[in-house]
Amino acid sequence: MKLIAPSILSADFTRLKEEIQAVEAAGADWIHADIMDGHFVPNLTFGPMVVEAVRRTTGLPIDVHLMISEPDRYISGFAKAGATCISVHAETCTHLNRTVQLIRDSGARPGVVLNPATPVETLRWILEYLDLVLVMSVNPGFGGQRFIPNSIAKITLLRTMISERGLHTLVEVDGGVSPQTIADIAAAGADVFVAGSAVFNSPDYRQAILTLRQLANR
Ligand code: DX5
Ligand code: ZN
Repeated sequence: MKLIAPSILSADFTRLKEEIQAVEAAGADWIHADIMDGHFVPNLTFGPMVVEAVRRTTGLPIDVHLMISEPDRYISGFAKAGATCISVHAETCTHLNRTVQLIRDSGARPGVVLNPATPVETLRWILEYLDLVLVMSVNPGFGGQRFIPNSIAKITLLRTMISERGLHTLVEVDGGVSPQTIADIAAAGADVFVAGSAVFNSPDYRQAILTLRQLANR
């Protein structure tokens, strides 16, 4: 079962509630929330207050992607705001095992994110504690960037690692997911597809999600 997670980074923030309800009605499986701190990534977005507002507009799982330094300081805030999954970048965590435990203890499902140049091997001793791994297929910070082609080989490697160890960790892919790229990403073994511009820049959300889902399941 492939899941489509529209990223509200590309939504119209003057109409955030309507945008979320529109993608929910259009068949979205998760809502992806991109948290940026202007430090780990060169952009700023929003914090737990907005996630809490999102929580009040939808019953869908909220998938929080933390692109922030020192994520430990904010995990309980996002969990209390109603995050279903909280993913931290491996590059931001000196004590990754502790951070993952903190997410689990907060009641959210833990994930670890890898930047494009961070090897899958980084996950070797943490994989069994994760509910999901998020593979960045662009350099984080902005929507609407081009998919980095060698992400496909990386997803294949990660999927193999998960299967060989008999785990059920979800593989999520974020960045440049579109009708042009999603079939190859799915074939490499991804389960969850973040799509910002491919959904919110389209005139028909239902058609956009349907097209992505059909191509992913082919
Ligand atoms: C990028 C964010 C993505 C972004 C994806 O740093 O993590 O979630 O919204 O946007 P698209 O789908 O347009 O590449
Ligand atoms: Zn993201």
